[in-house]
Amino acid sequence: MSKRTARPRARDRGHGGDTFAAILRQRLSRRGLLRVGAVVGTAAATAPLLEALGATPAAAQSGAPTPVAVKFTPIALSTADTVQVAAGHQTQAFLLWGDPLRPGLPPFDLNAQTAALQEQRVGFNHDFLAFLPLPFGSERSDEGLLWINHEYTSGREMFPTYNATNPSKEHVDIELAAHGATVVKISRNADLSWTYDVASPLNRRLTATTPMLLTGPAAGSELLKTADDPTGTLVLGTLNNCSGGVTPWGTVLTCEENFNQYFANVNALPSGIVKSAHQRYGLPSGASSRRWENYYPRFNTAQHPNEPFRFGWVVEVDPYDPSFQPRKRTALGRLKHEAATVVVAPSGQVVVYSGDDERFDYLYKFVSAGTYNASNRQANFGLLDSGTLYVARFNPDGTGQWLPLVFGQGPLTAANGFTSQADVLVRTRLAADALGATKMDRPEDVETNPKNGKVYVVLTNNTSRGVGSNPGTDPANPRANNRYGHILEITEDDYNPAGTTFRWEVFLLCGPPSDASTYFAGFPRELVSAIGTPDNIAFDRRGNLWIATDGQPETLNANDGVFAVATDGTERGWLKQFLSGPRDCEICGPTFTPDNRTFFCAIQHPGEGGGLTPPTSTWPTGSVPRPAVVAVWRTDGLVIGA
Ligand code: FEO
Ligand code: CA
Ligand code: CA
Repeated sequence: MSKRTARPRARDRGHGGDTFAAILRQRLSRRGLLRVGAVVGTAAATAPLLEALGATPAAAQSGAPTPVAVKFTPIALSTADTVQVAAGHQTQAFLLWGDPLRPGLPPFDLNAQTAALQEQRVGFNHDFLAFLPLPFGSERSDEGLLWINHEYTSGREMFPTYNATNPSKEHVDIELAAHGATVVKISRNADLSWTYDVASPLNRRLTATTPMLLTGPAAGSELLKTADDPTGTLVLGTLNNCSGGVTPWGTVLTCEENFNQYFANVNALPSGIVKSAHQRYGLPSGASSRRWENYYPRFNTAQHPNEPFRFGWVVEVDPYDPSFQPRKRTALGRLKHEAATVVVAPSGQVVVYSGDDERFDYLYKFVSAGTYNASNRQANFGLLDSGTLYVARFNPDGTGQWLPLVFGQGPLTAANGFTSQADVLVRTRLAADALGATKMDRPEDVETNPKNGKVYVVLTNNTSRGVGSNPGTDPANPRANNRYGHILEITEDDYNPAGTTFRWEVFLLCGPPSDASTYFAGFPRELVSAIGTPDNIAFDRRGNLWIATDGQPETLNANDGVFAVATDGTERGWLKQFLSGPRDCEICGPTFTPDNRTFFCAIQHPGEGGGLTPPTSTWPTGSVPRPAVVAVWRTDGLVIGA
């Protein structure tokens, strides 16, 4: 556990007025400026600090109370096998793996699983969450649909008799059915706890076998055709749905991340662009880890070389329509999409940010050709099929460019082996390599702050940075052996997300504050919580950043958690731990109801790696570990963090 001293007493953090603000300003001026200069050394980097010193303290200068931006008492890192949360809050685990989504199903029984039952139950390893108010278009916070991504399965924690080197077909079929996503109707009770409606006709499961359309420029192209689908337009299932986003028209974007791991035997392919592309995306040379290829040849690239090209996309789904056929939007590129978050530009064009979660891979955004229609929901359903995909280059001077991935432009020509826009999109990583994009420390979530309009890019870690012959540090990825990860802050020029230039600076360099390489936007590090390996983020209505982590057991010897930090004002960088998960989990999917009185997150893979005999976590039921959603509310019912 990190050593944290000199935390301000509770009464100092409430409405301390001039006194506390003045102390902060002194500390910022003495320590923060030094830190900023040492870490980044660009003029751009000092801007927020000057803003913090000059702009927000106006309230203090006028004698008015200075509100605390993120108002709760932080908790400490924990290794307990429970969900812990800041004082004055209550938590509830619900929508556990295996909970029924249809009336009349038997309760979950670890020893009585079937694929047919799993298709009607909550899937495994919850990731992205989205609360979608009911009815569509309302701002209701007490009734809605909850979207849950189910990223992957872990046979050892699902089946008492699992054989990792030779799984049974029955187990494989249950795993296929436990992938994908859940849509479920939920409602908030008078006591602020939550209930789901097992009988709602809106409840739905997507799985690794649900038929889905390929749409956009690559649909129907040669690389997407297979023996099973000679049209190149119809795919069975979605895989490794990590994080995602919600569009302004109320559809969900669910992202296919580490799809590579499901496909076997790349070494059996002849040399050529198919094999080299699969290698660039990290497909296994021999058997896959799950051995689905033993029963389903489409997962064997030696037999179906193009099947992997049909994964790695952003998938759009209308959660309000249970009959909607999911669409893989090829215009957004093919990569290990962590998330896809949407913002509307002043022009009305829709912009989708997405990170490719791999060491030394890239940050992308898509800008639609058409414009958002706020008065006709259906008119937006094709917006993500036409537009321009860009990849980011971070310059050392704090500026940056969005480089277009357009066939025929720059190096993306036949002379360099590219044959069409479809080819550029299917082999997005290779096209981005050719453009000289900046190699990042595993881009995870990327989101726009609704309050200040800046874009926050989460880089979870990269312990290979600067090691051996790997790329060394650069100003946007400033630490070698980056164990703890960092967060960048992008300001699009003219605050126009559809533009092609931006400025950037380092917002956080994570880690235990005792580590001299950490940086918390200039805030005195002795006041902040320790944090490692940031992954998914969300903003509350006031523009504070909420961060879920994935990897603190390895980096801080503590369970993963949820943290909150102000992005503006005197408290910019004052990071506080809000919640701690149970053992051997990661925390995903942070999100709020519109009224910010409920916070949701997903507890993914509690007890992972420990098997079931006995499990290393028994959360949440005291028996076998089960991934689940956690709802958090204040016992006084007021807005969280305010
Ligand atoms: Fe599935 Fe990048 O986390
Ligand atoms: Ca992660
Ligand atoms: Ca993630």
